[in-house]
Amino acid sequence: MKSISLHIEKTFDFIKEGAIEGFKAQIKAANDALENGTGKGNDFLGWLHLPSSISKSEIDELNATAKVLRDNCEVVVVAGIGGSYLGARAVIEALNNSFSWLQEKKEGNPVIVFAGNNISEDYISELTEYLAGKKFGVINISKSGTTTETALAFRLLKKQCEDQRGKEMARKVLVAITDAKKGAARITADKEGYKSFIIPDNVGGRFSVLTPVGLLPIAVAGFDIAQLIKGAADMEKELSKDENNIAYIYAATRNALYQSGKKTEILVNFHPKLHFIAEWWKQLFGESEGKENKGIFPAAVDFTTDLHSMGQWIQEGERSIYETVISIETPNRELHVPSDKENLDGLNFLAGKRIDEVNKMAELGTQLAHVDGGVPNIKISVPQLNEYYIGQLFYFFEKTCGISGYVLGVNPFNQPGVEAYKKNMFALQIKSVV
Ligand code: PA5
Repeated sequence: MKSISLHIEKTFDFIKEGAIEGFKAQIKAANDALENGTGKGNDFLGWLHLPSSISKSEIDELNATAKVLRDNCEVVVVAGIGGSYLGARAVIEALNNSFSWLQEKKEGNPVIVFAGNNISEDYISELTEYLAGKKFGVINISKSGTTTETALAFRLLKKQCEDQRGKEMARKVLVAITDAKKGAARITADKEGYKSFIIPDNVGGRFSVLTPVGLLPIAVAGFDIAQLIKGAADMEKELSKDENNIAYIYAATRNALYQSGKKTEILVNFHPKLHFIAEWWKQLFGESEGKENKGIFPAAVDFTTDLHSMGQWIQEGERSIYETVISIETPNRELHVPSDKENLDGLNFLAGKRIDEVNKMAELGTQLAHVDGGVPNIKISVPQLNEYYIGQLFYFFEKTCGISGYVLGVNPFNQPGVEAYKKNMFALQIKSVV
C-alpha cells in the first residue's frame, strides 16, 4: 500500500545549514516523552495508540447505529464545536460530492448538516426552517456536555425533533456522544434513553476524530470508517519504527523555520474539498502550540481561488510565512478539456488534457513563484483522496503536533486560553439578567 510522503527540499535555502538535523536529539526526546507518558499533559495521550486499539466490535457498533440513522433520516444534524465537530466535517466534505448539499437523500445517504458551532440566530433559525417537515435526526457531540453553542442548538433541535417525529422516533434518532458520567448531555441521554457513545477521558477534543466523535457522523454519511482507521493505524506503525520518519522531519522542519523567523504556516490545498481538513489542522496546531506567548500561527488558503486574493500577500507581503501544500496525486474523477472551433479564449493548446494537469501546472508554477518570492515550501503528497489516506494524514499531523509542541516547550494537550471568552460571556449574561 502506498503512503503519504513529505518533501522539504524547498525549505533548505531559508534555514541555517544543519538546522533540521540540529533538532534530532530534541525530537527523539519529545517522541520518548510521548511514548513513555512522561511529558506535559500526559493524561491526554489516549490518541497515541488509538488507531491500533479500535476493535472490530466497536466499529460494528458504530456502523449499526449509523444504519439506524441512515434508515430513519433524510437529514442528520451533527451538533458540536471545535474538536467535537471539525474532524467529522473534514472527512465528510473531503469525500462527499461537492454538490451533495443541493441533493436530497441519495443512495441511502442522508444529507449531513452541522449545528452547534456558532450562536448565530439567523443560522439556527434558518436550520430549523430547513428541517421543518423533514425526517431528521441529531448526533449531539460534546465531551463536557456543557458547551453553550452546542447545548443551545441541541435544546432547539431536540424539541423540534420530538414535535415533528414524536417522542418514540426521536429516542431512536437522537444520539449522544459525550463523557461517561458527567455533563448535561450525559444526563439527558441517560434520562431519555438515547443511544450514546463515550468520549474517552484521555483524548482531548482536537485529537478525537478517531473516537465516536468523528467516526459516527462519518459512518452516517456513508464512508468507510474501517478504512479511515486502517490508514491511521498503518501510519501509527510507520511512525513508530524509523527515527527519520516523516513526523520527525515535519516537526523538525517547522521548528527550524520558526527559529528562522517564519512565524506563520499556511496550509495550502488545490482542491476546495480539503477546506475543512485545513480547518481541522488549524485547530490541531493552533490550540496545541499557541501558548506561553509562543507558537507558529496556523493559517490556510484554498488555491487557486485564493491566489486571486491572498496570492498577492503571499508573493510580496512580509516574509514571515512558509507554505505547506497538501498535494493530491491522482483525483478521483477524470475530465478532459474540450477543443473549441473558435478558440476565442485561446485555450485550445490545452485541448485533450485532463483538468488535473492544468491544476498541477498551477501548483508547480505557484510553488516556484512563492519560493522565488521568499516563501519556503513543504509538500505533503497524498496518493488519492479517500478514507485510507485521510486516516494516514490525520495520524501524521497528530503525531507531528505532539512532538512539535514538546520541542517548542509547551503542553500541547491543554487549552487554558479558550476559557477566557467563556468567562466574559457568562459574566456579561449574568449581568444582563440581574
Ligand atoms: O479541542 C478542544 O478541546 C475543544 O475544541 C473542544 O473540543 C470544544 O471546545 C468543544 O468542547 P466539548 O466537546 O466539551 O463541547
